[in-house]
Amino acid sequence: MPLSPQELLYEGKAKRIYRTADPQVYLCQYKDNATAFNAQKRGSIAGKGEVNCTVSSHVLAYLAQQGIPNHFLAQTGPTEMQVRALHILPLEVVVRNRTAGSLCRRLGLEQGLPIEPPLVEFYYKNDALGDPLVTPDHIRLLQLATPEQVERLGSLALAINHHLQAFWRSCRLELVDFKLEFGLDERGEILLADEISPDTCRLWDLGGSEPRVLDKDLFRFDLGDPVAGYQEVLQRVLQAVGSQSPLSLWEKGQD
Ligand code: TMP
Ligand code: ASP
Repeated sequence: MPLSPQELLYEGKAKRIYRTADPQVYLCQYKDNATAFNAQKRGSIAGKGEVNCTVSSHVLAYLAQQGIPNHFLAQTGPTEMQVRALHILPLEVVVRNRTAGSLCRRLGLEQGLPIEPPLVEFYYKNDALGDPLVTPDHIRLLQLATPEQVERLGSLALAINHHLQAFWRSCRLELVDFKLEFGLDERGEILLADEISPDTCRLWDLGGSEPRVLDKDLFRFDLGDPVAGYQEVLQRVLQAVGSQSPLSLWEKGQD
């Protein structure tokens, strides 16, 4: 059922979340705004909202098919999706398959080294503190989640990594690392939330002599044209999923 946005619940750097007439359903609108380094760098990537909404819809529908419970309900427009209303945990869960980004900066590692088994890290979602890395003991101290929930988040993140690696491989892209967010439903079950897109995944094309970056690092570090990179990711996803729809009310409405 198409639901119109009602009260604006939250406006983040890249999305707006609205309440709808159905208390179980939120509407999520994706924006073209881009920020990096805790919003110290600000800009915009034309078409990013549509790319991230469409890519996330396909990826979340795929993960649901693989048995990963998540908040996605339907894509209802180019930059709009319906999601289940959840209580979002104030944690970011990062999984790393290769060294890159803050891991290299923090530990002095060379970029691009394979990590086996993959690394799982937790960050405290807190802009004022700059989203610090936290251990399970810090999470317990701050009462951000119970030890059992932390255990479940870690195992879900690794299962999601397994499925996402296969998904991105089908797009001829290597999943270097990514960030996840989770929420609790009314029964206290943990569901995958937020988005999975070139904003939240490092995606490298390893087909050439040098890795070709096709994600938000193009914007973060001025590595190339982010608009072209995001469009290429979208085209590769659409090619990989073929005619499959991400349960899209919007696309059905176009028939
Ligand atoms: P990092 O290497 O900067 O810690 O980033 C790890 C992964 O998390 C990378 O794929 C980008 C993603 N990420 C976000 O989605 N949001 C953020 O705010 C940050 C810092 C990273
Ligand atoms: N989205 C983050 C921010 O601006 C940073 C990032 O994605 O690198 O705070």
